[in-house]
Formats: sequence, C-alpha cells, structure tokens
Amino acid sequence: MNPVPLIRAARIRGRVRQLGRELAGAFAGNPGRVPAIVALLDGSFCFVADLVRAIPVPDLRLHFARAASYHGGTVSSGSVTIDALPSCVGADVLVVDDILDTGRTLAAVVAALHAGGAARVRTCVLLDKPARRVPVDGVRLRADFVGFTIPDRFVVGYGLDHDGRYRHLPDVCVLDGVAIA
Ligand code: IMP
Ligand code: MG
Repeated sequence: MNPVPLIRAARIRGRVRQLGRELAGAFAGNPGRVPAIVALLDGSFCFVADLVRAIPVPDLRLHFARAASYHGGTVSSGSVTIDALPSCVGADVLVVDDILDTGRTLAAVVAALHAGGAARVRTCVLLDKPARRVPVDGVRLRADFVGFTIPDRFVVGYGLDHDGRYRHLPDVCVLDGVAIA
C-alpha cells in the first residue's frame, strides 16, 4: 500500500493557523470562563499539538481522552469505548478529533460530556468525510469547526493511522488499496 499525498503539510499549517484564530474568537464569547479542550487520542495528537499553539488566548485547559470505534481495521465497529474522559462540570468544552467519519465517536463523546455536566460542548475536526455519516439517535452530526472536507477515501498521516502505521507522515495521504466499508 502506497500513501499518496492528498493535503500537503504546508496547507495543513495554514488552515490550522486560521482555525486557531476562529477558535480564539469562539472562546471570547465566554469571558471569565477558561475553555477546556478534550483531545481524542491517538489520532488527534499531531493536530491538537499544532492547534493549541495557534489559539491566541492567555489560558485554556488541555485534556486527553481515548475513544475508539475502529479496532485495528478500517471498518467502524459501531460500538465506541471512551477512556479517561475528564470532569468538565460547567465548562466550555471543545472536543478535538482527527476525522469525523460515521460520527459515532464524536456523538458518544459529546453525549458523555453533556451527561457529565459540561455547560457547552463544541467540536473541531481536522477532516470531515460527510459521505459516510450515519444518524446517531436520529441526528447526523456536524462538527462546529472543520479543517478540510474530504472525499470518501481512507486517509493516513498527520496522526491518522492504518493499524498503527503511517501516523508520522507530515501530509494527509490517501492509502491506496484500503477498502472502506
Ligand atoms: P467515526 O466514529 O466513524 O466518526 O470514526 C472516527 C474515528 O475513526 C476517527 O477518530 C479515526 O480514528 C477513525 N477513522 C475514520 N476514518 C478514518 C480514515 O480515513 N483514516 C484513519 N482513521 C479513520
Ligand atoms: Mg484511528
């Protein structure tokens, strides 16, 4: 399998800078409340590392949680496991993930944060694959902040993996030969 660049590192850098400014503006609507970012591991590790340094605010909290709906393959298993979700009672929360695919992962995390007492929950993803969205409880999830909308291809790089591989690639690449179900 041969990863072919789809979004080059320089374009990602530019878009992440813009997103950082957009997010600073979004957080400014809640003066006096320290925003809390919950980044979903493992896939968001590159994105969130660059994103937080591009948000020009004097203070924010950064937490990591782990959510998985893929278990080594390329087909979403349908069940989402969430580990280490922080307590965000009363907080203005931004969930950051690498990619919004079926929407099951983000929907489960958003629901868990609301159930845990977060005051507001918004979402930010580097990549959006709208073609594959499924309704969760009758709702097709939309992210509040999206880096790039991409076609229905399996992608790797800039944190995204195929079975643990290719996360280190600086570009987002299409992985030829991977069938998406
Ligand atoms: P969802 O629950 O189907 O939206 O899946 C979201 C998770 O699936 C992401 O956080 C990724 O870890 C993984 N995923 C979905 N599409 C891709 C892809 O094209 N490449 C790598 N991982 C993906
Ligand atoms: Mg993954």
